[in-house]
Amino acid sequence: MTEKLINDTKEAFQKAFQKESEHIYLSPGRINIIGEHVDYSDGFVLPAAIDKYICFAVKKIDNSETCTFFAKDFNESFSFNINEKQTPVPQTWVNYLLGVFNAVQEEGKTIGGLEIAFSSTIPMGSGLSSSAALECGFAFILNQIFNLGFSKKELAVIGQKSEHTFVGVKCGIMDQFASVFGKDGKVMMLDCHSLDHQYYNADLKGFEFVLFDSCVKHTHLTSGYNDRRKDVDNGKKALWKKFPHIVKFRDFSVEMLDEVREEIGEISYKRCLYLLNEIERVEQAALALSENNVARLGKLLTETHAGLSTEFEVSCNELDFLVEQTLKEQGVLGARIMGGGFGGCSINLIKEDDVENVINTIREKYEDEFNIQMKVYQVKISEGIKEYTPNEFSI
Ligand code: GLA
Repeated sequence: MTEKLINDTKEAFQKAFQKESEHIYLSPGRINIIGEHVDYSDGFVLPAAIDKYICFAVKKIDNSETCTFFAKDFNESFSFNINEKQTPVPQTWVNYLLGVFNAVQEEGKTIGGLEIAFSSTIPMGSGLSSSAALECGFAFILNQIFNLGFSKKELAVIGQKSEHTFVGVKCGIMDQFASVFGKDGKVMMLDCHSLDHQYYNADLKGFEFVLFDSCVKHTHLTSGYNDRRKDVDNGKKALWKKFPHIVKFRDFSVEMLDEVREEIGEISYKRCLYLLNEIERVEQAALALSENNVARLGKLLTETHAGLSTEFEVSCNELDFLVEQTLKEQGVLGARIMGGGFGGCSINLIKEDDVENVINTIREKYEDEFNIQMKVYQVKISEGIKEYTPNEFSI
């Protein structure tokens, strides 16, 4: 699949620019084992990069002031002058890229002319972070081709900044980190306060994570994502006013939250309560992973779904149905909606021997109930963004 993606992208470059590309980059999507919506609240998250990618075919154009993109999947092009300041445009896909350029420019760096064609195997609006793959992929390319000297951490932050300023989604840092720092076969535990991270083996010995795509598409520009942040910010404001000595959100206790409950109202209370519990669940999940306690890990996943559905309220009927039905099946240890929510995929921890049965049963039940054909992704945990060189990188 990735080989086809690479060939198709090279071909698209050829057609769009009437010449051969010089570099190929692969920027991955991500899964998140656990730790949802806590990345903008000093929490821990457990994501991993996967073998679904945005592929970029790139050529540096000397003595040119233009950067041109060809988005193969939309059959659209866009050019801009690299010496001018950019502002957001009506096409969303362009804003992810212009936002990166703007963030790079604000750091006082200059780039040269470029031609880029790109195409993706990361389904859009499915909670697998195609946005971060696009932003961070472009940031990585600029950094490498023009020797800008940004660290990997800075590239992730540039990606996030692009989304905040040019796209308008106040996302956390998890997706960008996973895309940049992913490691083959490893899940990362990222402390979203310090941005320190460590890797855990993702070998689940007889179990695997399988994604069920509800095919309910969402974009966080309109999904309610930013509203959830506002609910949480309202709670945080009151908490910090009352307990100014606390440094990180995760150091507030439920008892402290109870003390501001009346002031912040039930909605903000529920959101913050979910976050405090979720941050603790991630720590427990990391322990379960390191001890290979898959049963415990599965239980935590399922608890997260309950929190996301009833307290954080980012699930939907389709995902609640998928999770509820999946959990009834033999060999399923845990299931939950994954990513920002409001549609997209569930992540399911299933015994390898039972995977096929579970997929067949759930596919049928889902279609009967909603008349939608769910998609299934059996992904491999993979390397973060990198330049593809045919010999060195097995795909
Ligand atoms: C989206 C955002 C992330 C994170 C998740 C929820 O993917 O981009 O920053 O908040 O939702 O965990």
